[in-house]
Amino acid sequence: MSSKKAAQPIGVFDSGIGGLTVAKAISTHLPNESIIYFGDTEHMPYGDKSNEHILGYCNRICDFLISKNVKMIVIACNSATSIAYYHLKEKYKDVLEVIGVITPVALYIEQQQYKKVGVIGTKATVKSGAHAQKILQKVPTLKVEAVATPLLAPMIEEGFYNNKISQTIINSYLSHTRLKKIDALVLACTHYPLIKKEVKKFYKKPIDIIDPAKIIALTVEQSLGEQNLLFTGIRKKDRFFVSEITDSFVASTKIFFGKEVKVVEVDMWN
Ligand code: DGL
Repeated sequence: MSSKKAAQPIGVFDSGIGGLTVAKAISTHLPNESIIYFGDTEHMPYGDKSNEHILGYCNRICDFLISKNVKMIVIACNSATSIAYYHLKEKYKDVLEVIGVITPVALYIEQQQYKKVGVIGTKATVKSGAHAQKILQKVPTLKVEAVATPLLAPMIEEGFYNNKISQTIINSYLSHTRLKKIDALVLACTHYPLIKKEVKKFYKKPIDIIDPAKIIALTVEQSLGEQNLLFTGIRKKDRFFVSEITDSFVASTKIFFGKEVKVVEVDMWN
């Protein structure tokens, strides 16, 4: 029998639709768990914001999710994880577990036999150096090259992909000399799984394209299991909140989670 706390939902947040890729993977992998999702659409893209701003948004969002009684928080955003993970983990350590998207990917890479890994992400993510630092901590001999690809997240958030222009932008970023001869590419922005097909298309010789969503879902399962918080009862309804309702968020949520999804706008900044 699951405990009362196990029945509480999992809180997941991102600056917009990107974290839905993670939320969907958690839902698919753990079908009894329900999710409370927050998309900070008003402040998207996080990748261009200062560390202070990103930290401020993350603090408020976590307080909001905790007010909704979540049992765990998943930072489904690389930019937010790069800047705020250790702060949030420490701040809420007596309340709940906070999971980020970087350490699980580094642990995954540790199990592989790569020689050179590329990382693409937002400016905030790449500037932080968080991926290279975590990966090199696990595999010091690996070559890690990170390249900022700032146009991609806003483009995807707008639903602008799978067309000639998006492919040209993607090709231009992936042609960067630092990304030559990589064995694997980390999609270090949760928006990027939506352009995975286009990224694949760029490479003549197939390489591993690491989409963190499934890796995070496995981490969530492991962490909930260790805390005895896996829910075995009947799944409750997922709930979706945003700081500003946008057509693309509503459309994406429907695509990821089915027809009857209600998206609620909350004003927690004033
Ligand atoms: N999805 C977010 C990430 O993983 C970022 C997009 C943004 O710049 O807001 O970094």
